[in-house]
Amino acid sequence: MLDRQGDWKRTNYCGDLRAADIGREVTLMGWVHRRRDHGQIIFIDLRDRSGIAQVVFHGDQAKDAHAKAEELRGEYVAAVRGRVVRREKPNPQIPTGEVEVLAGELRLLNAAHAAPFAIEDEITASEETRLRFRYVDLRRPRLQRNLGLRHRLVFEMRRALDELGFYEIETPALARPTPEGARDYLVPSRVHHGHFYALPQSPQLFKQLLMISGLDRYFQIARCYRDEDLRADRQPEFTQLDLEMSFPRQDDIFEVIERVLERVWVATGLAVSRPFRRMEYRDAMERYGSDKPDLRFGMELRDVTPFFDPARETLRIHGSVRAVAAPGGAALSRKQVEELVEMAKSHGASGAYAVKMGPEGAASSLEKPLGAENLRAMTESLGAKAGDLILAVAAAAGGTAAKGPDPALPIAGHLRLGLAHRLKLVPQGRWEFTWLTGFPLFEWSETEKRWGSAQHPFTGIVEEDLEKLESAPWEVRSKGYDLVLNGVELGSGSIRIHRQDVQARLFRALGLSDEEARHRFGFFLDALTYGTPPHGGIALGLDRMVALLAGEKSIREVIAFPKTTAAQDLMADSPATVDTQQLDELGIRIKESG
Ligand code: AMO
Repeated sequence: MLDRQGDWKRTNYCGDLRAADIGREVTLMGWVHRRRDHGQIIFIDLRDRSGIAQVVFHGDQAKDAHAKAEELRGEYVAAVRGRVVRREKPNPQIPTGEVEVLAGELRLLNAAHAAPFAIEDEITASEETRLRFRYVDLRRPRLQRNLGLRHRLVFEMRRALDELGFYEIETPALARPTPEGARDYLVPSRVHHGHFYALPQSPQLFKQLLMISGLDRYFQIARCYRDEDLRADRQPEFTQLDLEMSFPRQDDIFEVIERVLERVWVATGLAVSRPFRRMEYRDAMERYGSDKPDLRFGMELRDVTPFFDPARETLRIHGSVRAVAAPGGAALSRKQVEELVEMAKSHGASGAYAVKMGPEGAASSLEKPLGAENLRAMTESLGAKAGDLILAVAAAAGGTAAKGPDPALPIAGHLRLGLAHRLKLVPQGRWEFTWLTGFPLFEWSETEKRWGSAQHPFTGIVEEDLEKLESAPWEVRSKGYDLVLNGVELGSGSIRIHRQDVQARLFRALGLSDEEARHRFGFFLDALTYGTPPHGGIALGLDRMVALLAGEKSIREVIAFPKTTAAQDLMADSPATVDTQQLDELGIRIKESG
């Protein structure tokens, strides 16, 4: 028999009870986390968002409550009235461990099916089961903590940005399709057959329009939608802290973000040091083989090409050779080293070579082709000592990005990360923020055989490079920047193009005819002619930020209702089919597949 909550009012959260509450009469409400029945005495762990309180029912003191407590099962919803007393056997494992509630009355508010998995941090249930029963999954303390952290972060961001003079402004979720790199999610219009809205990949154009409108400083906790291949750090819908400001210098944008992040980190009990480090894109590629370098550890890459010159033919090496030395890496097993070599090959290496540094010097299959002296000179140039491991890679010939970075670099960059993680050389609890600047404006697309925007087509262009827009696009530098944290791209932004003639010229350089550009971006090109101030901004991936702070590998752990890597919601079973009447209204017929 279920009871009504009636006029009972909760007085405390379960997890808040402390020794100072001893003697108080309290009313708690929550879920039955665990029940231990010792006959005349029944213990209940009652759980709510704040934690767990132990409630004890004595058969000889509160007969009715005790009888009802016998009916309780896991995840039943209950309300308890009673007195806080000191526990005979304190439990130092939990914050409420010094006290318990001596139950006087119990109301059973709802029954529950057996939970599909335990409401604990460590469980063995598959992610599929967890997502199918997400409402139960979210009861686990880890996810409750993550969502609490997310709330705190967003709250601090709003406060900091308000103090810095930013307005929070909402922009439409039903927008015009304007490709920003990924595929759009389209929404058919019922009123205008054959016409579609697109869910925004980001509020990019709207925020630029707000600057044209004189709103000066805008931000939004913006939901973005992208139909792209998903990974641990990508969701089809995700959230950005998106902002834009008028008349900024790059430094002003950096300062705003640094202040906001400092606020967030401090609120989370962590420290950051400002100003953040800055690095040129080229430098990051040369030294770390990545445009999102993890700077929590060293192990910089070295160009060892000259040492390989005598062996070019034997080893069939075409381009440059890059190497990384890992302290203590000689301790890795042969199998682990082989795995790293395979990893390099899967990333496009033509060859990957290991050199183990022993007390007697280098041991490697490279000794013969390179010559002992040459090999020794290479290990010296890398500063390798006994116990270290060197890995050197060369990229396969062909298929390389025209005028792009040396293809051996990103492969060596992957090896650097692989080595550091296997050898546990990545310090935890460190926050290495870095601004990356000096990106090229264009990126060569091998599939489309043409130059495309490295960021998006509204990114500003370094003035001195404008003249090379058509003649030497690979040399044109952008006014874009990325914010990298511990090897993760946290955010990306730029000073924008604010002149209509430059914007139109860039579209042309991207291969868009004037008609096409007008068709897709006409409204924006027009807006640019009505008094556009210089402006710039940035967007940070909020989900990624929370995941890093929560120590989670996947952003799915910090999103209440995430989708699977197949972009499905397993709980609600979406996407779903719709009935023909709905499709008819939209003027849509589904083609038979296959
Ligand atoms: P960009 O496309 O680089 O820039 O996105 C900014 C940041 O958003 C995060 N992010 C994602 N997070 C989760 N899932 C995804 N699918 C996903 N895609 C991106 C990343 C990324 O750094 N309009 C520009 C910003 C600007 O120029 O102001 C933009 O959206 O952390």
